[in-house]
Amino acid sequence: MKNRTFLIAGNWKMNTLQPDAITLATQIAAISTEILSSVEVLICPPALHLAPVKAAIETAEVKVGAQNMHQALSGAYTGEISAPMIASSGCSYVILGHSERRQYFGETDALVNLKIKQALAHNLTPIVCIGETLTEREAGLELAVVTTQVKGALANLTAEEAQQLVWAYEPVWAIGTGKTATPEQAQSMHAALRTLVGELVSDEVAARTRLLYGGSLNAANAAELLAQPDIDGGLIGGASLKATDFGTIIQTAFRLSA
Ligand code: 13P
Repeated sequence: MKNRTFLIAGNWKMNTLQPDAITLATQIAAISTEILSSVEVLICPPALHLAPVKAAIETAEVKVGAQNMHQALSGAYTGEISAPMIASSGCSYVILGHSERRQYFGETDALVNLKIKQALAHNLTPIVCIGETLTEREAGLELAVVTTQVKGALANLTAEEAQQLVWAYEPVWAIGTGKTATPEQAQSMHAALRTLVGELVSDEVAARTRLLYGGSLNAANAAELLAQPDIDGGLIGGASLKATDFGTIIQTAFRLSA
């Protein structure tokens, strides 16, 4: 039994056409209320589908979140979406600093920090993604890399702001590769992360902060990962696109929280 409620979050990335998105969301929202009242479930469809997905799922128990946002409130930023737009679509979460954003769109820790502040100002809970590349892990630099990312994300945040963050440890080498961090590797990083949040914010906040694991988490390996003491949920890519797989992961979390 964990003292933190599991958060099982699906990052759909740039997948699904609108009708498929609505079907998938509706299937996930059909999970029993008993489960949904013990495990927090979040889906993050492409931005274009946020409002229709939110409208299609009648239960407020399945939360909807965005995958990214711009740090400004509004203005001449062609193609971008803002925190108030996401909030006004009925969303309560936003994924920030995903490694794909860092890798393909040049997002830096400083930019992620600006986005975090703007998200919090609009009552969106940021899920801040951190994680090392394979080269960095092979060089033994994983903790140093993650520490820099965490410090950058937390720059100039008050303890009150910092306590609202959810962190997702997503080793880049495990994303979409079918290669998962072992439960020991994941637990060891999560424990180190919790210690770091304790040092940078407070032990009390660290004890309450949810640390998600992401990177080829699926229906088959969910139990051993979620059973780790410092893993409080998952940020799931590929397996979140299949209602049955995502449902199995949610049920696993439910079983482990009973
Ligand atoms: P996969 O589950 O497809 O490896 O993706 C993980 C991820 O990047 C979630 O944000």
